[in-house]
Amino acid sequence: MIVTIDGPAGTGKSTAARGLASRLGFEFLDTGAMYRVVAMVCLEENVDPQDAEGASRIAQRVKIDFEGDRTFVDGQDVSDDIRTSPVTSAASQVAQHSGVRDALVEQQRILAAGRDTVSEGRDQGTVVFPDAGCKFFLTADPIERAKRRHLELNERGESVDIDALLREQQARDERDLRRVIAPLKPADDAITIDTTGMDPDQVLDVLEEHCRQQI
Ligand code: C5P
Repeated sequence: MIVTIDGPAGTGKSTAARGLASRLGFEFLDTGAMYRVVAMVCLEENVDPQDAEGASRIAQRVKIDFEGDRTFVDGQDVSDDIRTSPVTSAASQVAQHSGVRDALVEQQRILAAGRDTVSEGRDQGTVVFPDAGCKFFLTADPIERAKRRHLELNERGESVDIDALLREQQARDERDLRRVIAPLKPADDAITIDTTGMDPDQVLDVLEEHCRQQI
């Protein structure tokens, strides 16, 4: 069974997807990490994230693996390197190219093949797993989302101005919502949950209850 959780950044998707996978005994797939990997390699190799051909070549070449919470590229642990602000911004740029998306969508389907999986991203319910057994779309107030990201970056020792974060978040949302291929939107059969003011356990309880009804 596949469970999809889509939505914009900062809505608590990752925490919810991880927690739900653990409660259900499913695998967890963080597809955002895959776009981040392509962005990181672009920046490392001086390929402009807007360069569709260059970014697509990288997406076809890199071998991405997950072990627990960690992300590996060609065997190297890049879990922290893919969470920096420059990589975050570049990720939503590389995500606009069809060549990048095709390569990563193929990898996502391979990673989930034959495994009960909770898969998290922007297009999991609409494009990658249209037949998923349970689909969720998480939303939250933009200011609360920026505050959550601020806290997360502070915990990583990165201090970023909250207004700058809000602007970056808006730019990222715009790119995700407006892109031609696989734009951010709920699947017709997705359950939308506004997580504003909810703590992670409350979100998890709601998701788990819906999933248990389908299992
Ligand atoms: O979820 P996360 O913030 O790690 O995703 C980074 C970026 O990757 C997003 O801003 C989005 O542009 C892109 N993405 C995507 N499709 C997915 C997952 C992430 O376009 N399934």
